[in-house]
Amino acid sequence: MMRGIWPALRSRGGDKNLLALLTSSVVAIGLFYGAGLAYGERTSLTVMEYWRWWVVHLWVEGFFEVFATTALAFVFCTLGLVSRPMATAASLASASLFMLGGIPGTFHHLYFAGTTTPVMAVGAAFSALEVVPLIVLGHEAWDNWRLKDRAPWMADLKWPLMCFVAVAFWNMLGAGVFGFMINPPISLYYIQGQNTTPVHAHAALFGVYGFLALGFTLLVLRYVRPAYRLSPGLMKIAFWGLNAGLVLMISTSLLPIGIIQFLASVEYGTWYSRSEAFMQQPILQNLRWVRTFGDVVFIVGAVSFALQVVLGLANRTIAADAQPVALEPVGR
Ligand code: HEM
Ligand SMILES: [Fe+2]
Repeated sequence: MMRGIWPALRSRGGDKNLLALLTSSVVAIGLFYGAGLAYGERTSLTVMEYWRWWVVHLWVEGFFEVFATTALAFVFCTLGLVSRPMATAASLASASLFMLGGIPGTFHHLYFAGTTTPVMAVGAAFSALEVVPLIVLGHEAWDNWRLKDRAPWMADLKWPLMCFVAVAFWNMLGAGVFGFMINPPISLYYIQGQNTTPVHAHAALFGVYGFLALGFTLLVLRYVRPAYRLSPGLMKIAFWGLNAGLVLMISTSLLPIGIIQFLASVEYGTWYSRSEAFMQQPILQNLRWVRTFGDVVFIVGAVSFALQVVLGLANRTIAADAQPVALEPVGR
């Protein structure tokens, strides 16, 4: 990343706020893995949990959210769809909101790891606030979608744009709704580490950062092969297969298992809802197998996407009307 960013940082003049925000989130995303080295196999569980969540939580609910927001602002501003001051202001506002909720929100993972009551309260209150920027993102998804009619050449960017709309949608559902569902101390008391966690984790992790990566992949493909047009059929199967597969995995398997575990946990306790005797019951075994349907739909989507990228890369025709660069500003 730095290889690409450094020359832009060093160039004279121009508004570099957005670039500085992007650079710091890129550096933080890398550095935060280092917290994983702060514990070893003999460290107390309380201390180990603390540092482990620096890696998981501050990454997904802190710096990567800032990276996602600023990287998208960058793309839209480079395309000339939003002005640079607008993009900078919007990114700064949502980055501050993410950080305000995200950093103290880390404690929502430490409710039951020997944390004192006041710290629990801080964790619960601030992580509940994290839902606010996610709702703002939902509104942004709608705005992004409307951008597609702004210029005729935007039609070529339909699929990357669809991926970015999916990012905002899953952020709202996966992180906002499913994250919030497991987040209050009273619910996490019963459902920590149950199948409701992968409900949230799959919807948020693939939904948000998976689609973000796919959207960027398509933009890069357009950059290296400006003359290539994505196949509408293949892209439809890819995009909707991935989305429908994710919905099916969650709604037909993970969520029902999570709800059954939750009921058992309320009735008898967490120990029972996670025990082998409970988890190996026929109904739960069957529900785990049901997941295969969603998985297959998802895999079809993933394979179609990969095929589309390979076909794009293999195609080396240069069209007469090919634009010299992929991200052509409309001059604003
Ligand atoms: C895009 C944003 C997010 C991503 C990618 C994400 C991803 C994840 C992942 C992968 C885990 C499981 C980690 C593990 O067990 O090692 C997790 C756990 C958790 N997440 Fe998120 N998350 C996001 C946002 C949120 C938000 C906004 C909230 C709260 C409002 C939240 C609340 C939680 C809680 C409480 C757990 C712990 C569950 C447990 O201990 O069983 N997450 N998240
Ligand atoms: Fe978290």
